[in-house]
Amino acid sequence: MKKEVRVFAPATVANVAVGFDILGFALQAPGDEIVARRVDKAGLHIKTITGDGGKLPYEVDKNTAGFAARCLLRQLEAEAIGVELEIHKKMPFGSGLGSSAASSAAGAMAVNALLGMPVSKMDTLHCAVLGEQVADGAYHADNVAPSLLGGIILIRANEALDVHRLPVPEALHAAVVYPHVSILTKDARDVLSPRVTLQQSIQQCGNLAGLMVGLYESDYGLIGRSLEDVIIEPQRAPLVPHFAEVKQAALDAGALGCSISGAGPSVFALCQGAETASAVAKAISSIFTRQNIPNDPYASPVNQEGAKII
Ligand code: HSE
Repeated sequence: MKKEVRVFAPATVANVAVGFDILGFALQAPGDEIVARRVDKAGLHIKTITGDGGKLPYEVDKNTAGFAARCLLRQLEAEAIGVELEIHKKMPFGSGLGSSAASSAAGAMAVNALLGMPVSKMDTLHCAVLGEQVADGAYHADNVAPSLLGGIILIRANEALDVHRLPVPEALHAAVVYPHVSILTKDARDVLSPRVTLQQSIQQCGNLAGLMVGLYESDYGLIGRSLEDVIIEPQRAPLVPHFAEVKQAALDAGALGCSISGAGPSVFALCQGAETASAVAKAISSIFTRQNIPNDPYASPVNQEGAKII
């Protein structure tokens, strides 16, 4: 067992246009860092929270990272061990980049790493999802699973955590831009109608299946044609400033497809090649900048590693 470890868990793009609550992938940056340290006092304690998490609770029950970490200590029957956490929030809340999911994935990873990785990452997923549930009240793994495991993850069923890693075509890159406006996930879920039409369902199923085949066959054209969300995006687009213009700019710059990242306001585009991804991130960023909306652009390949010791 180690005395101290520092871990990183990345931001994620949930939904990926056509997989509402069941699809997500990990980015290289940004992400959260957590230091876990052995202490004499038994159980899980939160010592420090820095960065964007200034207002996060220190009570373990109410803190996503703390909850996930203590859940894993219990699962491993290791509560006699004393562990303190330093939580370094390096990503904003309400950004659509899976901030709370990154914290809970890092919390679970920190305890597993401190104990010498007695279980696989997959065996810590339940605790990490429970940690995120503290933040948003719902048990869904579309941010947590890719943050923890890396890659592009399909969640066939959230309750059963029936999760599957999809292949990532070699040249697939993501452009992501976070405009500095806040959208609460709860509000972005409240705008959604509980009903879909048969026609919408047919189109969305076709696109989700098309995206899967595109990923398996590295068929970039098929990936692009499939990145069309006919159910969620039309309902949430009004929440993202200048979304139509942003999407058009991304497509004009060569993106395969562009949609809202998670519950927004961040937007993402999938691209073939690193250069195109950089150009697309720049094109999206310039639309927000022109409207005086500060923004953070990112361009990277899909992060295949997920949470890791640093
Ligand atoms: N799938 C979720 C949503 C992600 O779009 O509401 C945000 O947690």
